[in-house]
Amino acid sequence: MKVVETKDDARKLVRQWKEASSVVGLVPTMGYFHQGHLSLMEECKRRADRVMVSLFVNPTQFSPSEDLDSYPRDLERDKALAERCGVDAIFIPGEEEMYLPGHRTWVTVQGLSEGLCGRSRPTHFRGVATVVAKLFNIILPDVAVFGEKDFQQLQIIRQMVRDLDMPVEIIGCPIVREPDGLAMSSRNAYLNEEERRSAVCLFQALELATRLVQEGVESCGAIQQALRQKIESFPFTKIDYIFTGDPQTLEPVERVKRPLLVALAVFVGSTRLIDNTVI
Ligand code: PAJ
Repeated sequence: MKVVETKDDARKLVRQWKEASSVVGLVPTMGYFHQGHLSLMEECKRRADRVMVSLFVNPTQFSPSEDLDSYPRDLERDKALAERCGVDAIFIPGEEEMYLPGHRTWVTVQGLSEGLCGRSRPTHFRGVATVVAKLFNIILPDVAVFGEKDFQQLQIIRQMVRDLDMPVEIIGCPIVREPDGLAMSSRNAYLNEEERRSAVCLFQALELATRLVQEGVESCGAIQQALRQKIESFPFTKIDYIFTGDPQTLEPVERVKRPLLVALAVFVGSTRLIDNTVI
């Protein structure tokens, strides 16, 4: 597996791949790999001849009060896992390499970025869309793979690609979970033992939502109320949002209309966890 640290080296490598007519796939990540990340790499291998993984903890998607400095990192382990997975190259740019001094250009996907996670993280998706657009311009991938774990992020990237005519196919992959249902996340590393036990509340709330819809409950208010009770029955939890709405437009709905996106953000201790399901 090649390790590249500059945009120039990444471009040179991809140029070689394309000269050999390879289909090039990209998996953007912030590292500290778990099975969720590895599942994206596996899917990318199925879709492309050559797989590039980018690993960059993107400062512009963190607000000053967030966990940029403490974000978990383990570069050597990540390299070993990516290599074992059969990734062809990993792109690990430094902050100064990625953002030149005087950076002023931002990609904002209006309408999809303000609700859900955008309410408590108002500049987050601008940072995400901008860094993903930069990665697409550097690597020029034919396909790029993202997880449905970050459902809003995936929809924002799809919209950006559509609106800006970016020549890349976006592939979404299902959420990979721990045996008890907790969605895998690099941030799960922050949880202590007691919090880890409470963290299953997100998955259990989503299961409850699915059951209620299947039983014919039509009021999203009633569903949200039941989920609120469920989550609050676990210690150390504080709800950021419970969303029920349209998975395409991310508009909230009051009556159940399938497909229905149920998305949650819950603080467990000081760790903010997200999860979702489409019913
Ligand atoms: P990161 O949180 O490292 O996630 C990288 C990719 O892995 C994202 O597409 C995310 O949805 C996916 N992923 C995370 N947990 C998953 C799980 N349990 N199952 C399936 N997929 C999962 O998302 C980011 O980084 C950044 O915002 C990024 C897109 C790299 C831009 O900086």
